[in-house]
Order: sequence, then structure tokens, then C-alpha cells
Amino acid sequence: MSRVVLLSASPSEGSKTEALLEFIARRLGQYGHRTEFIKLRHLPAGPLLTGDASDDLIASARATVSAADAVVVGSPVFKATYTGLLKVFIDLLPMDALHGKPVLPVLTGGSPAHVLALDYGLKPLLATLGASSIGRGRFVASSNILPATDTTPPSIDESVERDVVDAIDQFDSELTVRARSCTHAEAAAAESLITTPITTERNPS
Ligand SMILES: Cc1cc2nc3c(=O)[nH]c(=O)nc-3n(C[C@H](O)[C@H](O)[C@H](O)COP(=O)(O)O)c2cc1C
Repeated sequence: MSRVVLLSASPSEGSKTEALLEFIARRLGQYGHRTEFIKLRHLPAGPLLTGDASDDLIASARATVSAADAVVVGSPVFKATYTGLLKVFIDLLPMDALHGKPVLPVLTGGSPAHVLALDYGLKPLLATLGASSIGRGRFVASSNILPATDTTPPSIDESVERDVVDAIDQFDSELTVRARSCTHAEAAAAESLITTPITTERNPS
């Protein structure tokens, strides 16, 4: 079980990006992972814009990212790239904020003309934060995302659902590999504590 944080970088209520992230979170939950949302639009605008990392809500969001095993980053495409809301939050994170964490990037957009925003915009941004691996990610057209209703969870149009599920499944595999390597490293560390002989300094006299 991994702790996965989902960052939503849409400024809008009723966001399609959030619906996509909820779809991803539900599936990760089915695989036994614990998921937690950070909706960046709920963070205070003033401290975000002035880079005030001491603000309580921003400090808490930073701590949540730091404590996560893995992160899903979701943003709508605005003017051919990720939102400014995502950028101002990323600017508040330390340079190694994603060190050792697998990351799954997802974008939503109105036009497939901007699918390359994933490779030329979002992924390089995430790489600067030291992510251990950045999944291939997905660009999903907003017309293919069906928000939740009172009775149904968010869903993805069947024409692209399989592709989105494949991305989530690959990410789940990354999480499994990471969890195993962490367990091995912990076991090796514990074993070295047991087998390392205790040396005592002899008194030369
Ligand atoms: C200010 C603004 C700029 C946008 N620019 C683009 C764009 O350059 N390329 C694109 O494909 N879609 C663009 N869109 C459409 C959004 O990316 C798309 O509707 C997205 O799914 C909205 O996500 P949200 O509901 O999570 O905010 C833009 C929308 C807005 C409001």
C-alpha cells in the first residue's frame, strides 16, 4: 500500500481535471493504495503569488507532498501548457520535493493540438523536482471526461477509457516495485544492524 497524493491544478469548480483525478484515485484505491487530494485552488492566492511558504495551508500542502510515496499531477492545458496555479505551487516546493517518488502526469484539454504540452511542458517541470520516475502520462480531451453525478462516479468515455486505465495500471506497477525495493532496503539495513559486530575500544593500559 502506497500513500498517493493527487494534485489538482485547475482553478475551476466542477473541474474536468478533478473528475479525471477522481477516476484515477478510485482505481488506485481499488488496488489498495491510500489516496489524498490537494486542490490547489483551495490554497490562499496571496501567499501563492508572493511565494510565502510559511502560510499554514501552504506549509501543510508541502508537508503532504513530502510525506507521499507517489504523486499524480493533473492540470488543464491553458494557453498551450499547464496552469499558472500549478507553477506557483511548484515554485514553493524544494528542489528535491519529488525525489524518490514515482509521478504520473495527466493533462486535460479542449484540443488534441496541445497533446505535446505533456512532453514539452509538464514533464520537464516535474523532472526539475527529482522524481524517481515520470510515467508516460496521458492527455485526455475534456469532452471524454464525464463528471460524477448524484448517483454515478466520474467516468471516461469508452473510446479512451482503456488507455487511461493502462496508464493507471503502469503507475500501480511502479508503486509495487518501489514498495518492494523499500522493503528490501529496510530488511538489509536491519540485517546489517544484527550482523555488525559490536566493537569496543580496548584500554591500552
Ligand atoms: C483560459 C483557458 C485557456 C485554455 N487554453 C487551452 C489550450 O491552449 N489548449 C487546449 O487544448 N485547451 C485549452 N483550454 C481548455 C481547457 O484546457 C479544457 O477545457 C480543460 O479540460 C479544462 O479543465 P478543468 O475543467 O479542469 O479546468 C483552455 C481553457 C481556458 C479556460
